[in-house]
Parts: sequence; C-alpha cells; structure tokens
Amino acid sequence: MITKPKGCHDIVGLEAKKWKYVDKVIDSLMEKYNYTYARTPIFESSELFHRGVGEGTDIVTKETYDFKDRGDRNITLRPEGTAGIVRSYIENKMYGEPGPVKVYYNGTMYRYERPQSGRDREFTQFGVEVLGSNDPLVDAEVISIPVLLYKMLGLKGIVVKINSLGDKESRDNYRDALVKYFTPKIDTLCEDCQERLKKNPLRILDCKVDKDNELLKNAPKTIDYLNEESKKRFEEVKSFLEELEIDYEVDERLVRGLDYYNHTVFEIEASVEGFGSNNVIGAGGRYNGLVETLDGPETACMGFATGLGRLVQALDLEEVKLPINDDVELFVMYVSDTEKKYATSLVQYLRANGFRVDTEYTGRGLKAQFKQADRLKAKYLILLNDEDLKNDEIKIKNNKTKEEELVSVDYLLYYLDEHLSDEDLDYIDEECECEHHHGEEHKCCGHHDEGHHCCCHQEEEEE
Ligand code: HAM
Repeated sequence: MITKPKGCHDIVGLEAKKWKYVDKVIDSLMEKYNYTYARTPIFESSELFHRGVGEGTDIVTKETYDFKDRGDRNITLRPEGTAGIVRSYIENKMYGEPGPVKVYYNGTMYRYERPQSGRDREFTQFGVEVLGSNDPLVDAEVISIPVLLYKMLGLKGIVVKINSLGDKESRDNYRDALVKYFTPKIDTLCEDCQERLKKNPLRILDCKVDKDNELLKNAPKTIDYLNEESKKRFEEVKSFLEELEIDYEVDERLVRGLDYYNHTVFEIEASVEGFGSNNVIGAGGRYNGLVETLDGPETACMGFATGLGRLVQALDLEEVKLPINDDVELFVMYVSDTEKKYATSLVQYLRANGFRVDTEYTGRGLKAQFKQADRLKAKYLILLNDEDLKNDEIKIKNNKTKEEELVSVDYLLYYLDEHLSDEDLDYIDEECECEHHHGEEHKCCGHHDEGHHCCCHQEEEEE
C-alpha cells in the first residue's frame, strides 16, 4: 500500500467539511474588509526565498523543499506566502496603482520540519498582505482580521501578543546589544544559536531548543532600544488596537522567525487545553524593506498568516460546533427503468434550479433507498412512480413529518421553493454570546456578524 508522505494530511469527510466552512467564512470576511484574492505559484525560484525570507532563518537553512527542474533551474516549494505576493506585486507593477494594495491568499505551504502535532511538512495558510501604507492603523487592522475570524468561528481561548522591533536604526542597536549580551555565554547555547550569533542574533530569541533557557529569558528587551519615532509609532498601533477593542499583551522578547520584519510583530496563541507547544495559530508583522530587497520600489507593508490546520485543531479542542449544513435537500427515488430515466433528467433539472439533490446509483431496492436517504439526512424524498408520472404528478414526502403530497410537475419548483426556503440554516443549541442574547441558551444559527449579532436575532428583528 502506498501511504502519504510524512508530515502531510488527507483532509476528508467531516474534517474536510470543517475546512470548507472555514474557507467560506474567510472569503466572506475578506469581502467585508475589501481584500482581493491572490493566487501565486506554489513553487518559485529558490532565490526569492533566500533573499526574501532570509539566509539566516531556520526556514531557508533547514526547511525548504528545493529541487532542480528539468531545465536545471533552482526551484523551491513555497514555505510561506509573503515573498511570492511581494514578487507578484513587483512583477505586475502593482505599485503603480493607487494604494494600498490589499490581498489575501489561502493555500498550501511546504517546510521540511520534523513532523509533530501542529507542525507539518505540507500545511495551509490563510494570509493577508497590505502593500503601500505605513499607517499604524493598517497594523492594527491587520491584527483585527485573525481576531475577528477566530471570533466568528467561535474560538474563545486566544491570546494576542505584540511587540515592536522598531525601524532599521532601532533594530541595529538592539542587534548590537544582543551580541554584547550573548557573546560571553554563547557556548551554553545550542550549536545553531552559536551560528545565529554571527549571522542574525535576533533569531536566538526564537530558538526552539533553548526557549526555556534563563539566558534567553533575561536577554535585553527590544522596547529599550527603540528610538523615539519607533516608540511613538508603537504607541499609535496600540491605541488603534484599543480603539478596535482588541485585547493584547506586549511581549518584549517577541521577534518572529523570519528576517523581513520591522516595527510591529505579533503572534496569536490558542490557549486551549491539550494543544501542545505549537500553539501559535496566527502571526505576522510589518516588513517595510522587503519590496526593495526584491528589487522593487520603497514600499511599506504589513501582513499576517494563520495555519488552518492549527486553527481547526483549536476549534476541535474547544469542541466548537460549526454550523455545517451538509443535509441533502432532496433525494430522488425510483425502481423501474422508466422511473430511472425520468429521475436522471429530474435530478439534473432540480440541481440546475439550485437544489441540493442526490439519487440512487447502486441498484438498491426501495427499502434500502429510504435508509440511504436517511443517511444523507435528506429533507424531502421524491418518490417516482410510473403511475403518477403518467398523470404528470410527483409524490413528495417530508422526511421528518413523513407527510406525503402529490404535486403537479408544473408546480414542483414553486412547491419546493416554498417548503425548503426556511430550512437552509442549521440551528444548534448554543449559549449565544451575541449582544442580544448575552449568553442565554437558545436554538442559534451559530453565525455572528461583526456587530456581534447572531443571524437569528436579525431574523427575529426583521419579523
Ligand atoms: P509564520 O509564523 O512562519 O509566518 O507562519 C504563520 C502561521 O502558519 C503559524 O502561526 C502557524 O499557524 C502556521 N504554520 C507555520 N508553519 C507551520 C507548519 N510547519 N505546520 C503547520 N502550521 C504552520 C509566516 O509564514 C509569514 N509569512 C506571515 C506573514 C505574512 N507575515 C507578514 N505577512
């Protein structure tokens, strides 16, 4: 038997339905924020990531999937989305458009890591990038996107950690302070950290091996090395976060594992029991120099990405019930060959008219077809019968109340529209946290908008 490669997943069945639901919420959220979907290649020239993500990062030194293609070009499977978006921004001269350019992506990334819970070799990131604005409001707004996404999905235990690395001057000062601090005791740290001291000392703070070492815990803090301008900027970002009512903690040693950051950096942790150590579900920051590094014009940028695998895992651990509606609306049943022929075109006709329809494909008898309809949670059954069809009539059975009706073929669509329109939301028992229900338990649709109203409340209001 051929098995899947290490660190990869098959996302199938209920799991796949959850992912699809999360995708839908992402698309609708991005529409509200007015971000445009962007799709860039899954592989790029290796140089893009070496220059973009940084030669000194773990991602580039140890984790990329590199290969030569048949034309002898050096190719890398993308380990993250930002570098590709920046390349595309430059190549398509998007800097010529009135800015900022606001894009989002949702796709697979590849890192050759040691597989463990929450750390995969193939994983999916939803991310956003804003190119062409240095406004601190953008920093706060980008942070608000994952926060709102998690909230809309019903995830409760999240902690937002932010920090500022400051501008180039502040970052250089901080770098020097770290070199001074670590040099006398560097042999107490891992071999990689000894290398990092030479290439990029900030990376030491991000070391997965030495993360609990006292030396790291007592290291200089970025905040003490910010110049006045960077300090002021950080204060502004914080005040916009407060304006957006986003709770955050300042983590003065947060530096992030990629080289391109400056000013704001942030991580969002899932504080959910049983999650394990890879609990950062989303992260990002400002990367004002990257467009220039990749030969574009000076451009201020900010972005973030969230790992969908970790996000769905957090939702599972919190036992969040996603309002996944996978019920079939109509199940078309038949026995004779003429009924089957009629079923074939009827199913097609109903689908073309917007109904979710299934039928029989394995030669089951009528009794087994009823069972199959129940398995598919069919709301209505269409019971084709040669006698009825001769009179241009169709028998429809409500699979819940078991009531049956003979409906004229001409009237079928009206009948179905009328009977199925109220059934498209799956209501669940939930302690609804919306502003209207204040934690009270009711049959809730589970959908909450940005104003923290649930849809059932809106419907109640409309009534
Ligand atoms: P990152 O911190 O490397 O940042 O990844 C962002 C998120 O992707 C992580 O918080 C995690 O949820 C998920 N992730 C990363 N590696 C793995 C893995 N091996 N297995 C499963 N999930 C993983 C970036 O990638 C930046 N490009 C984010 C960004 C966008 N910064 C600015 N714009």
